[in-house]
Amino acid sequence: MCGIVAYNGVNDALPVIIKGLKRLEYRGYDSAGLVLQNNNGSLDVFKKKGKVADLEKLLGDIRIASTLGIGHTRWATHGKPNDTNAHPHVSGNRRLSLVHNGIIENYAPLKLALQKLGHEFESDTDTEVLIHLIEEVQKRDRLSLIEAVRVALTKVVGAYAIVVMDIRQPDVLVAARKSSPLVIGVGNNEFIIASDATPIIEYTKKVVYLKDDELAVITKNDLQLLSMENQEMPLSIQEIEMELERIEKGGYDYFMMKEIHEQPVTVRDSMLGRVNAAEGWAKLGGMEDHINRIISANRITMVGCGTSWHSALIGEYLIERLARIPVEVEYASEFRYRNPVINNGDIVMAISQSGETADTMAALKSAKEMGAFTYGIVNVVGSSIARLADAGSYIHAGPEIGVASTKAFTGQVSILTILALQLAHRKGTISESRFRELLIEFEQIPEKIKKVLESDQQIRYIAEELKEANNALYLGRGKNFPVALEGALKLKEISYIHAEGYPAAEMKHGPIALIDENMPIILIATNQDAYEKIVSNVQEVKARGGKVIAIVTEGEKTITEIADYAIHIPATADVFSPLLSVIPLQLLSYYVAVLRGCDVDQPRNLAKSVTVE
Ligand code: G6P
Repeated sequence: MCGIVAYNGVNDALPVIIKGLKRLEYRGYDSAGLVLQNNNGSLDVFKKKGKVADLEKLLGDIRIASTLGIGHTRWATHGKPNDTNAHPHVSGNRRLSLVHNGIIENYAPLKLALQKLGHEFESDTDTEVLIHLIEEVQKRDRLSLIEAVRVALTKVVGAYAIVVMDIRQPDVLVAARKSSPLVIGVGNNEFIIASDATPIIEYTKKVVYLKDDELAVITKNDLQLLSMENQEMPLSIQEIEMELERIEKGGYDYFMMKEIHEQPVTVRDSMLGRVNAAEGWAKLGGMEDHINRIISANRITMVGCGTSWHSALIGEYLIERLARIPVEVEYASEFRYRNPVINNGDIVMAISQSGETADTMAALKSAKEMGAFTYGIVNVVGSSIARLADAGSYIHAGPEIGVASTKAFTGQVSILTILALQLAHRKGTISESRFRELLIEFEQIPEKIKKVLESDQQIRYIAEELKEANNALYLGRGKNFPVALEGALKLKEISYIHAEGYPAAEMKHGPIALIDENMPIILIATNQDAYEKIVSNVQEVKARGGKVIAIVTEGEKTITEIADYAIHIPATADVFSPLLSVIPLQLLSYYVAVLRGCDVDQPRNLAKSVTVE
């Protein structure tokens, strides 16, 4: 989704902005642009539909010596992706320029009112309305840039992260946020403002996370925060730990492949200090103070979107099975708008890689307003959901750049597994000896993931079979059903093949009608329960000419014989198997996408972090 990067300092702004825009590419976008101040005291705006590389082509050899500028990658909401709708947008008097991430929901009445006052608009965007509004307020009330931005924002309904400049105040950038992220990097006589920390860490590790309804006034050597009521706000500078190599490809063709291969390490990291088989404990620090509240809860509600919703479904299985606490999983977007029954003290957990997904954040906010105790399971440190929740746990997977989530998924499942074990142990729903056995096995999972990754070449070969398919069906039972959903989502996201995840036993109630020799079936069949029933499912598919690719446990014979292809994964306890069985599905979707010539890391239309509802 839209990415912002702005620079105010003593060095050339252009290279910092271009590099920053490239770092933000992973968020998903369809056009890019930037604005700089030139020596003639006017604004130079460059905008281009397409990639940052297209913007660079447009810039050609142009070199503008400016130490202040703003860049943007746009993911279209209002108005098609084209050069005109790309940001930055400028005011009618060509003095002000602005980039925006979010949606100005009341843009239509504002636009009408501004048109009546003589404002003319070039684009179809909501953003252009905002810059004209700032211009109007500034002109009418003779206000400084900061004042005009503040007053204009009081008239706006919606979500925004914005950065604005005014050619008449050539040393100042003004930034503001409400429900869309903005981070300010604090360097030596320079500030880099961005939607996330990736464009910043090359220059400084010191950051300020702008809060909702805060404005930042950024000069070359000073940063001041103000509330919407014009009160000075305290400045909290934090040190981020992200290393540069974690946001680079490190020899892999795509970030997604790098991230798939990082999973033995990231899953181990998610367990560090939280699982100790030798001493016999598993605990999430963030949960410790609240454990009694959770184990006595009537139910836990989990919300998330996309892959995070799939993790929540696995969490439901794990917590219900091990700790016997009822869990309900909801799409965050549905939860918010269907007026759910949440009572004071209910437990609502939000699962999110980015910690910025607008639907998840809105769901968590409304749960909080209804009196729920909220818990966040998040990857991005300092993100909005992490700050909003009453308590939470980071998954510590490091930056995930590939749009298709891989290591964040296994990180989330790992955290939910620790949680289920912690709750079960505390509640006494599993015996001490079973708990200890499970801990010992859990510590083996990173090594077993490594083992699964050795199937890489076999999966690459199988991908050849799938690359011409128009559809695919993913089937799984129990905790393998969410794994099937996740496998299908991966294939859809990056190779554009239509895929469905289904509970294996449900196949006979509909999807079986689709099965013929052109329909590949990917079956996740690691289950120890209901094994014979799964064997029957495979027979049913084969009897109708379907091609079966099965994920089975090492040593498995029956399905291995019937299926067209069998991918063997190490044996493990049933509750840990999603952490292994998802890996071949990630690799399969990766290779199919590569064979189809798709851009694996930046699939069309998708955004890594969906900051609009
Ligand atoms: C987008 C991404 C998905 C992700 C979902 C939820 O749709 O493309 O990969 O699963 O958002 O994101 P979150 O950051 O909340 O986990």
